[in-house]
Amino acid sequence: MKHTMVQQGKLKAAVLISGTGSNLKALIDAVKSGKLELDIVRVVSNRAQAGGIGYARAADIPCSIISHNAYPDRQAHDDAIVRLLDRDQAELVILAGYMRILGNAFIARFNGRMINLHPSLLPLYKGLDTYARALKAGDRETGASIHVVTSDLDAGPVISQVRIPIKTSDNAASLRKRLGPLEHKLLVATVDQICKRIVRFEAGEVMVGDHVLEQPLQMNHDGMFR
Ligand code: GRF
Repeated sequence: MKHTMVQQGKLKAAVLISGTGSNLKALIDAVKSGKLELDIVRVVSNRAQAGGIGYARAADIPCSIISHNAYPDRQAHDDAIVRLLDRDQAELVILAGYMRILGNAFIARFNGRMINLHPSLLPLYKGLDTYARALKAGDRETGASIHVVTSDLDAGPVISQVRIPIKTSDNAASLRKRLGPLEHKLLVATVDQICKRIVRFEAGEVMVGDHVLEQPLQMNHDGMFR
């Protein structure tokens, strides 16, 4: 079954979180201030202690805690989330610090309609501990990427990136601190391009306007794409 994004009105998005939810907050703030024409129809957290739940509640966004511990296996947990998102008619799924691997059925269900924010310059450093790995490798820069979610972990087509230099004095905490606000801008700017239907996913490719995206969009530190 092929699912396409509805072409009129505000895009309906679900945001999946596991932690502090600062990226969720950035989306909520951008919607509130009129910068982003997005309808966040639901927030799902797999962890009851996730700080982001408070942001969703404060903004009156329906929020569900779907703990993976309450289900016998990954598929059953995924299915519970899919049922909710279907009910809400979510057209876009935004993984914003969602720390569970999703099964293939979930990914197929939202094929081309799910994005993930990852704290590295993909294809470098898929998975965890990205800052430590960049430091250990002696890299001179790091950054964040937003990619389309496919069944290969952190390996779907990259839509957009932001870069920061790595200083000799940096550690993982300082990189996280400097990159955090830029991740927020990257997520808002990228979702904005999707809401405006400038960035689309078609036949496994990321399209920007009429062109297939050859290289990820690069965002300046002021939040604009070059
Ligand atoms: C971000 O650093 C993102 O790159 C990674 O998880 C973190 C989420 O942070 N995927 P927050 O929960 O949005 O504050």
